[in-house]
Parts: sequence; C-alpha cells; structure tokens
Amino acid sequence: MKHYFYYKEGKSVVPVKDKKKNEQAKRKLANLLKDKKDSVPERFLKNWSEVALYNPGGDVKAAKAVLIDPEEGAYDLSNPINELTGKEWVKFTCSWFVFNALHKDLKEERAASPNSKDHPATFSPTMIEKFVEFFTKKGETVLDPFSGIGSTLVACNRTGRVGYGIELNKKYCDISVKRTPKFKKNIFNDSAENIKNFKIPEIAFSISSPPYWDVLNRSTKDFKNKRTKNSLDYNYSTRTEDLGNIGDYEIFLERLAKVYFDVYDLLKKKGYLVVIVKNVKKEGKFYPLAWDLARILSKKYELKDEKVWIQDKIGLAPYGYPSAWASNILHHYCLIFQKK
Ligand SMILES: C[S@@+](CC[C@H](N)C(=O)[O-])C[C@H]1O[C@@H](n2cnc3c(N)ncnc32)[C@H](O)[C@@H]1O
Repeated sequence: MKHYFYYKEGKSVVPVKDKKKNEQAKRKLANLLKDKKDSVPERFLKNWSEVALYNPGGDVKAAKAVLIDPEEGAYDLSNPINELTGKEWVKFTCSWFVFNALHKDLKEERAASPNSKDHPATFSPTMIEKFVEFFTKKGETVLDPFSGIGSTLVACNRTGRVGYGIELNKKYCDISVKRTPKFKKNIFNDSAENIKNFKIPEIAFSISSPPYWDVLNRSTKDFKNKRTKNSLDYNYSTRTEDLGNIGDYEIFLERLAKVYFDVYDLLKKKGYLVVIVKNVKKEGKFYPLAWDLARILSKKYELKDEKVWIQDKIGLAPYGYPSAWASNILHHYCLIFQKK
C-alpha cells in the first residue's frame, strides 16, 4: 500500500499508520496538484504517483512539504528561493568547502574548445552549479558580469537556468558561446562597466569572480614563462577597460564596486549576489581585497555571509622562507549579498 503521509518519530521520518490520516493526505495531495502545481519542482511533478505529504509533527492539515524518499528529505512548498529539500539546503549552508578542479569539467571544456586553457583563471561549473541550485529555481535567470570562458553559463545549462554573461575578451567570449550555444544572444562581448547598455532582463541571481586586482600582471616569472612557452595567456588582456590592468588599488575597488552596484539594479527584489574573490598581496604588502569589497558593497547590498572555498591540491611555495612570515593563500571568499 502507498503511504501518503510521513512524519518524524525520534530522528527518523516514518509513514503514518493511521488509515484516516492517510486518506486525508491523499485528498490534500490531489488538491495541491490542482492549486499549487506551479510551486512544485519538476522532479516531484514528474514522479507525482510516488509523492507523499510530510509534516514533522504528524499534522496533515498543517503539512506544506512533500517528499519521495525520506532519505533525500522533504521539499517545503512555501520555499521562495530554490528547489532543494531541507536536507540538501542544510548541507549547502556549511561556511566552507574544499573544491579542486574536476577532470570531467576540464574534459567538457576541452571538448568544446581546445584553447580553453588559454584563460588563466577559471572556476569549475560543477562548483557553481551548487550555488545556482541554492539561489534559484529552474527557469530563472543568472548573470555573470565577468563570465570568462562561460563556466557559470555551463552551470546554468546543466541545471535548467537561463544564463547571461559579460566578458571583455573576445577570445574567451567565443569559447563561452561554443560551450553554451543556446545562450549566444545572452553573452555580451563588452565591458561590464557598460552593463546598463545591454538588454538584460530582471535577474534572479548573480555569481561571478572578477579579476583579483592586477595579480596576474604580477604573477611569478615561472608562471609567466611556463604559460608563454605553451602559448597561453598569463593575463586577461592589455586593454585599459580590463579591470585586471588597473594598478591603483582604490581605483580598482571603485570601478569594480560600480559594476556590482549596477548589477543591483538588475536583480529582483531579495535576489542574491555572490562574488568570489581573494585577499591579495602586492610587493609584500597584504591587501584585504575580499574584506574591502564586502565593506564597500554593503553600502547598497545587505552582506549576508561568506562561504570559504579552499583549494587543497595546490603546491606550496617557500614565500618568505627563511626570514619572514608569508602565507600561501589557497582560500577564496564567496561573499554572499542580498538586495535589500
Ligand atoms: C577571474 S576571470 C573569470 C573567469 C570565469 N569565472 C570563468 O570561469 O571562465 C575574470 C574575467 O573578467 C574579465 N574582465 C576583466 N575586465 C572586464 C570588464 N571590464 N568587463 C568584463 N569582463 C572583464 C577577464 O577577461 C576575465 O575573463
């Protein structure tokens, strides 16, 4: 017999034994399908015959969550943000995560464009998928104003969201179009500082990783030589519009913040913005880029939180050794803001 209602008993989610409650839940589910179809995620709709109602306290009337497999958790139909079950939601809320480039992502990149390695600082679509799935529902729009070779767009494609991107360097832009041809019209080869000129609809969410100031222009000789020898870029471009070519820290911060303030105007009410950025060093001096940006953007956005991304497969260099403290910075801040 199918169970139409589950509740919590101790730590377990169990089916109700009471026949009357089961019938009551069955009727409620039928009504839900009629009245609230739009708020039910596709994965539940597709398997509706397996869906049961859930309320931890065993109250059918108050129940507003559905589940298929108790192990995967229940989806609360009043959730305005995403399509995750409670279990999936909580898993993502850890304030840190370890993530290293995945072979399957690199394979996908290379298959779309053999010169995707040209770009010196990309992130992985698999990593971005998790953010997109947390901060949007299927069919919603996502903008990356520094889209590079289109990793965010790939994440959108994989998760059924609509991706928009802005990228200054035509070569990178072309790679992103190759990776996600369906978003061709949504990818703008221009400066994000001109964002107001593009036809971009209201967006539900924005995620991006901007140039980390001019770090690439200051990368080690070794890095530059290695990349030049393999005919790969060691910086994004030599253009003055490229924010990675601004030498002055304060001017860089001001121009970068202005882009994100413009993104604010495109974001839907209560929409989220995630900026992935690092604190950096220049000539031995520490610049808290992530913290400074968090402070400046808080003038308009509400700074909600940070999620620290750790890379643990990068070799350590002997900076400072043997005379002074100098760390290898192998963590990034995913700064989370919300439109007020
Ligand atoms: C850290 S990379 C982003 C990489 C991207 N997340 C990916 O995975 O491909 C920063 C990007 O910003 C671009 N950029 C720099 N200045 C820009 C500007 N003013 N407008 C738009 N893009 C810019 C660079 O060309 C570079 O591709």
